Amino acid sequence: MSMSTMRVMQVTAPGGPFELVEREIPAPGAGFVRIKVQTCGICHSDSLTKEGIWPGIVYPRVPGHEIAGIIDAVGAGVVGWTPGQRAGVGWHGGHCGYCDSCRRGDFVTCQIALQIPGITYDGGYAEFMIAPASALALIPAGLSAVDAAPLMCAGITTFNSLRNSGARPGDTVAVLGVGGLGHLAVQFAAKMGFKTVAIARGRDKESLARKLGALYYIDSQAQDVAAELGKLGGARVIVATVTSGKAMGAALGGLGVNGKLIVIGVADDPLEVNGTLLIMGRRSIVGWPAGTSIDSQDTLSFSMLTGVRPMTEVFPLERASEAYEHMMSGKARFRVVLTTE
Ligand SMILES: NC(=O)c1ccc[n+]([C@@H]2O[C@H](COP(=O)([O-])OP(=O)(O)OC[C@H]3O[C@@H](n4cnc5c(N)ncnc54)[C@H](OP(=O)(O)O)[C@@H]3O)[C@@H](O)[C@H]2O)c1
Ligand SMILES: [Zn+2]
Repeated sequence: MSMSTMRVMQVTAPGGPFELVEREIPAPGAGFVRIKVQTCGICHSDSLTKEGIWPGIVYPRVPGHEIAGIIDAVGAGVVGWTPGQRAGVGWHGGHCGYCDSCRRGDFVTCQIALQIPGITYDGGYAEFMIAPASALALIPAGLSAVDAAPLMCAGITTFNSLRNSGARPGDTVAVLGVGGLGHLAVQFAAKMGFKTVAIARGRDKESLARKLGALYYIDSQAQDVAAELGKLGGARVIVATVTSGKAMGAALGGLGVNGKLIVIGVADDPLEVNGTLLIMGRRSIVGWPAGTSIDSQDTLSFSMLTGVRPMTEVFPLERASEAYEHMMSGKARFRVVLTTE
């Protein structure tokens, strides 16, 4: 790399291959900062960019929304951030600040300038990236860049959904799917004091799930998930991180009274619902998007405080294609992280 160029891993067309290219290092405009990317986690949602599932993506596009790095340049008008600070960027890639949602303080549902790194602007599969200051989370000293990156999407999404779920310490909380998100959800649920149940396909993940804090394990291939949760008294909350609507539907009957299924995983098949089940026992189904940059910062702080860490497999940036396939295959244990160093 020369002084003025950087390597980025881009996708040129929906479904096309990853391409390693050199680009000019961009300068941050007003309100933006430039981050020297150290690490970027590979989220299943990167398939939205890679396969062109998200509508309206402008290609070529650099994927990646689990970024950890160091601020190395600050644009005009940015207050509160200075070069040299460690910063993370996640799915919440900034907000407009003036739409009805933002003026209510609900930055997650900002509809005007909804920005997502790796989708609406170039993300973290790169040596440098530009991000709005409103997207930044401060990374605490003592948390490595490899550990921080997955907390910026997989971490915040599970942490923030659980802490806002209404479940209280001692309640039964089930985590459906033990992948990149799920293995963090199990840890957060355990550290929050929930009676934590891990649910995954096969027995392979059982011992890891128990090490991460699960008190119970259900093999969704060999056991009836709803019936097993019923034996435990029913779940107050099921955090569904699976990519299958069918799998979510099979767990629904395991909700206890006032139980809530939190849909986090993006499935391409529909979730079938028995309405009577919802009515009797006041059960509900809600979706949950990650959270704001301060929610990310809370996730990093909570992880520091309680020892929650992602289990990671690290690949250099130039092996992004292999790393992505490893995640998509379901073989990753549990988060794949790209590094530029
Ligand atoms: N709502 C949000 O804000 C948000 C944020 C990040 C990601 N997501 C979405 O969350 C999902 C999980 O992401 P991830 O990065 O954790 O992915 P991942 O590491 O690839 O894990 C995928 C999970 O899906 C399950 N799965 C895959 N195929 C399945 C099938 N045919 N039947 C049942 N389960 C299946 C796996 O279950 P087993 O453990 O049983 O193998 C695994 O736990 C993705 O859909 C992603 O797009 C949403
Ligand atoms: Zn993600």
